[in-house]
Formats: sequence, structure tokens, C-alpha cells
Amino acid sequence: MSTTPAKQRIGLFGFGVVGQGLYDVLHRTPGLQAEVSRICVKDRFKDRPLPASSFTFHKEDILTDPHINVVVELIDDAEAAFDIVSTALRNGKSVVTANKRLVATRLQELLDIQRETGSSLLYEASTCGSIPIIRNLEEYYDNDMLSRVEGIVNGTTNYILTALHEPSSGGYASALAQAQKLGFAESDPTLDVEAFDAAFKTTIIAAHAFGVVVSPLQIVRRGITSVTPFDISIAQQQLRTIKLLSRVQLHGSGLSLLALPALTQNTSPLAGVRNEVNAVRLTAAFSDAQLLVGKGAGGGPTASAVLSDIAALRYGYRYEYKKLGQASPPVVNHDVEVAIYVRGTNDQITSIPFSIVEVDHRSSSGRYVIGHVQLDALHTSPAFLDPETFIAILPED
Ligand SMILES: NC(=O)c1ccc[n+]([C@@H]2O[C@H](COP(=O)([O-])OP(=O)(O)OC[C@H]3O[C@@H](n4cnc5c(N)ncnc54)[C@H](OP(=O)(O)O)[C@@H]3O)[C@@H](O)[C@H]2O)c1
Repeated sequence: MSTTPAKQRIGLFGFGVVGQGLYDVLHRTPGLQAEVSRICVKDRFKDRPLPASSFTFHKEDILTDPHINVVVELIDDAEAAFDIVSTALRNGKSVVTANKRLVATRLQELLDIQRETGSSLLYEASTCGSIPIIRNLEEYYDNDMLSRVEGIVNGTTNYILTALHEPSSGGYASALAQAQKLGFAESDPTLDVEAFDAAFKTTIIAAHAFGVVVSPLQIVRRGITSVTPFDISIAQQQLRTIKLLSRVQLHGSGLSLLALPALTQNTSPLAGVRNEVNAVRLTAAFSDAQLLVGKGAGGGPTASAVLSDIAALRYGYRYEYKKLGQASPPVVNHDVEVAIYVRGTNDQITSIPFSIVEVDHRSSSGRYVIGHVQLDALHTSPAFLDPETFIAILPED
């Protein structure tokens, strides 16, 4: 590995929840020998807690400054972020980003630019905040035969769902507002509650765990906005807890990828993961199941992952993406059976081609079915597209 200059001079893009969090943790980690040289933001009229001379509104002030050797990209605009990150890499700077949308939607291009330039792009904070999942997949699980990586990867939805299971729940809107107030929610909450954010992270996990580059559009994705107190009460009767589950699973040479609500069994370690906490469960041939748990959102926890990447750059660390080079990578295949719970109208429920129906409940408070269906058939059913229908998988463990 090469060595980087003793002092890291950082050009920081973005001074919001994570940018300010990073600034704070850097100042509380003096041994790191890293300083923020310049901060690029967007809004000229916003009050800032630092002198105006710390800021610029021109990206070139950072991207063309030869003294800046590390660019940290913490903005909330994936298009602008691609321009910043790709230019910084081409200008020979190492880059750290927390932007999962950027990484998930432009991964192949970012891989190509890293290969062409030899510059390093790290993005631990993009997936599960403070949990060190990417570097573990790259290094620790390099040789172990992973069969499944799943977990709770979105802090906002976990916070909302935790609140909805409380007897004193103030309802969906109040739980979302509280998550936004605490700085967990993305600036556009649709990304969180419709599971786009979880799909982005699922895409990133798939690349590092199984060596496949997929589009987030290939993930079987559905959000939590249609969940009702009725669904929560049925889950509780079944001794289950509703979570938003991300799962990448090998089935022979096929790989299924989903980001869907799930009725997790209360005995599963994932059921007890509350509020903005995230968890990733890894199942591998020799190590069996392991669980990584940590805060998945918020300024401090996310900044800690960014800080870890900055520290790793000091000794020339880069992702090697070894699994992307394997001779026969798995192929995306959603022709696999899943157990599901679905609550909705008769028309929507009958549009799902169940192979087995275990429960068909009809009452004045609603109709729901618990049964088995092929994941790809569920994905293309009219019920899956209906915003009022609530669909959740029933994991076995
Ligand atoms: N919040 C979390 O818990 C969390 C967790 C994991 C990952 N992330 C990721 O971290 C990144 C930052 O999130 P955040 O929550 O810190 O966002 P945020 O609080 O909304 O802050 C965004 C910052 O980006 C700046 N900005 C936007 N467009 C810009 C541009 N074109 N050039 C320069 N600056 C620009 C804004 O400038 P102004 O100050 O001038 O408005 C603001 O300072 C996102 O990619 C997000 O997905 C966030």
C-alpha cells in the first residue's frame, strides 16, 4: 500500500447534518492530523456557525486547489455529487462520500473512473451509518462463502415503525415529523418511506458481498406508507414485528434482492432493533450467522463512518472489489418462493397468484391473506403497484 502525505487537507462539500457532524468529530480527534481547508455550500444567505472565510460557493475552489488532497462529499444532491466526485478523482484527489444514491445509481461509472485514475473512493457512511459493513464485506468476508446479507438499513423507517408499535403511538405523520426533527430523515422523506434509500443500500451491499453491479431498479422494492394500525395488530397477534427489510440472498447461481416490509418473528434479533438503529445479519458457510448493530443515521454516527474512511486513506486504503472479478458471478433471479402477508381489497388480493394460502381472513375491519407466492409474480401483480395495499414478507428466522 502507498502512503499519503502526513497531513490530510480536506475540501468538504456540504455543511448540513453530516457535514457539521464531521466538522465536530474532526475537532475532537486531534491525533488524526487532518484539517478542513475549505467548505463548499450552496446557500449564500444561510447563517453559519463558522466565519464566512471558511466557506466557498464555487466547487473549483476545492477541486482545483493542489493543496487539498482529500475531498469529502456530503451534499444532498446526487447529480451535483457525481460531478464533484468524478472531477475530484480525475484531479488525483482521494474521495469520501456518504451519498448512497450517488454510489448505487452510478456505481459502474465510479468503478471505471477509479480504475482509470487509480484514485480511491470510499463510502462506508453510505450504508448503515456507523456500522462498518462495507469494509467488513471487502476484507473479513473476502473468502467466506456468504449466502445471505439482510438487515434493517434505514433509520427513518425503523424509527417510524418502532413508534407505530407503541401503545401510545401518535400515528404515522407524527413519527415521521419526529424523525425529521432528529435529523434522521433524508431531505426528501419519500426516499426513506418508499424504500428507495433501502434499495440504494441493498445495491451497494450486493456489489461488495456478491460481486454484482445491479441497478437499484432491479431491487424488489416497496415502502411502508400503507401500513395501518390493523396491520400492526395482526403482526402482534402473530408474535411478529413489522420492519423494513433489505435482503440479498443466493439461491444456487441466482441472487434475489429486495427491500420490503417484513413481519419479522419476535424471536429474531432483527425484531428487537429499535428506533434509528440499524442491523445487518450476515450468513456464511463457515462463520454461520453474525449480527452487526449500530446507529444508522444522524450527524455523529454517520460522521464517525466518514472519519473512519478519512483515517483509512492515510495508509492508502482502497476497495479492491475482488468479488467483481469472479469467473461466474451470480445472476439476478426473482423466481423464488416467499411467504407473504397481504392486506387489501378483494380485487387486489386475488390479483396475487398464490401457490399456497395458509390464512384467508375476512371481517368488517379488513381482509388479509397469508400465503406463498413467487417473488417475481408478486412484483408484477396489480396489488404490488396499489398504494393502499400493505404487503410484507414473512421471514422464517
Ligand atoms: N442525515 C443522515 O443521517 C445521513 C445518514 C447517512 C448518509 N447521509 C447522506 O449524507 C449526505 C448529506 O446528508 P445531510 O443529512 O447532511 O444533508 P443536509 O443536512 O440536507 O445538508 C446538505 C448540505 O449540502 C449542501 N449542498 C447541497 N447542494 C450543494 C451543491 N451543489 N454544492 C455545495 N453544497 C451543496 C447544502 O448547502 P447549504 O447549507 O448551503 O444548504 C447543505 O450544507 C447525503 O448524501 C445523505 O444521503 C445522511
